Amino acid sequence: PSNAQWGGRFAGGPAAIMQEINASIGFDRALWRQDIRGSLAHAAMLLKVGLLLPDEEQAIREGLHGIAVEIEEGRFRFDIALEDIHMNIEARLSERVGEPGKRLHTARSRNDQVATDFRLWVRDAIDGLDGQVAALMRSLARRAAEHAADPMPGFTHLQTAQPVTFGHHLLAYVEMLSRDRGRLADARRRLNECPLGSAALAGTSFPIDRRLTAELLGFDRPTANSLDAVSDRDFALEYLAALSILAMHLSRFAEEIVIWCSAPFGFIQLSDGFTTGSSIMPQKRNPDAAELTRAKGGRITGALVGLLTVMKGLPLAYAKDMQEDKEPVFDATDAATLCLAATDGMVRDMRARTDRMRALAGSGFSTATDLADWLVRALRLPFRTAHHVTGRLVAAAERKGVDLADLSLAEMQAEEPRITQELFGVLTVDASVASRRSEGGTAPERVAAQAAAWLERLGAA
Ligand code: ARG
Repeated sequence: PSNAQWGGRFAGGPAAIMQEINASIGFDRALWRQDIRGSLAHAAMLLKVGLLLPDEEQAIREGLHGIAVEIEEGRFRFDIALEDIHMNIEARLSERVGEPGKRLHTARSRNDQVATDFRLWVRDAIDGLDGQVAALMRSLARRAAEHAADPMPGFTHLQTAQPVTFGHHLLAYVEMLSRDRGRLADARRRLNECPLGSAALAGTSFPIDRRLTAELLGFDRPTANSLDAVSDRDFALEYLAALSILAMHLSRFAEEIVIWCSAPFGFIQLSDGFTTGSSIMPQKRNPDAAELTRAKGGRITGALVGLLTVMKGLPLAYAKDMQEDKEPVFDATDAATLCLAATDGMVRDMRARTDRMRALAGSGFSTATDLADWLVRALRLPFRTAHHVTGRLVAAAERKGVDLADLSLAEMQAEEPRITQELFGVLTVDASVASRRSEGGTAPERVAAQAAAWLERLGAA
């Protein structure tokens, strides 16, 4: 039998494989709430401009509410022959309410319908993720406040660089996540225009009121160009780009968690709730949630690259290729949702092994820069000269197999005769972090103030 929605022109129906490659109902049923919302707004607008009679609009409205209940309760029969969520719902509406249901598609096309539904869906997803990112920021800021004064080694090249505090390190991620929220909010602002009423590609001859539908759906305004409106997916790409950057941040943090809870580092211990054991090695506590968060970052970036590649060769306006826009967006959203929740769980539960961090914070000549700075401050050596003197002292300590603070004053003076006992005061880890009071620096009082400021901003003070 030919298709019920456009069968007029066809004598035969689609081949089974045609139906299979063509149908999107398997995944776009996720748009059902947005589709019903869009249809309710469209019907209300058709009523207002006189294209539907009051009883027709009422029948449509009640029918759509009834369908929502059917879907909610798992009683709706999704039919692959009806291709996608839009035609499944519309066909069921006509089944339920008859003639008025067949009037709903006046001045509308699936092209503006899907563009509208998808924007609504992405907007909802952004709102959900924004709350999750904020929650993770709160958890990080709380742990940062708790560890504002606990030193750990700071690294560059993953080589010991200078001591920092654990709280300072955690707050670095709060800053990144705050920018991620900004990017998502920015994408939301730009996507918040309503394509409905663009129809297939050229607009419509009916006297529709696009401002009304835009307003009913919470959009800021109607889109300005009908061709652009039905063929633009950069709102989805921008969303995926923001998600990819967010996922990259979560992945870097996950990588650090994996390193930190390895035995040689031992900076943190994850809770039992966020580790797995081994089927053969009884001692194991594996950080699987962190590893999977790291891996899903790749998957999310894959979604971005996949959709960019789908879109890059399409002439205006709509092409069926664009039906492939949804799965990457749905999948990336699921992945990001999971990663955020898992990261939040790990952060809340992890135990910081502050004694271990403190011990390692002082190893690897981590206060060599403090020594050089002292030579500049106390003896007014030019920094380059101080760097050189310190380098020779590090080499001397290394030859002896001791830390800088274990060299005697005489050994120090062998390299620079004007060095005094006072120098030893700057070589401790606590003195080192305490001295870094510059704005944005790692001094405990700075970190405590930053953590408090974030908790205040996040409404968690
Ligand atoms: N299922 C389609 C999609 O997701 C809806 C739009 C179909 N439009 C068309 N002209 N075939 O893109």
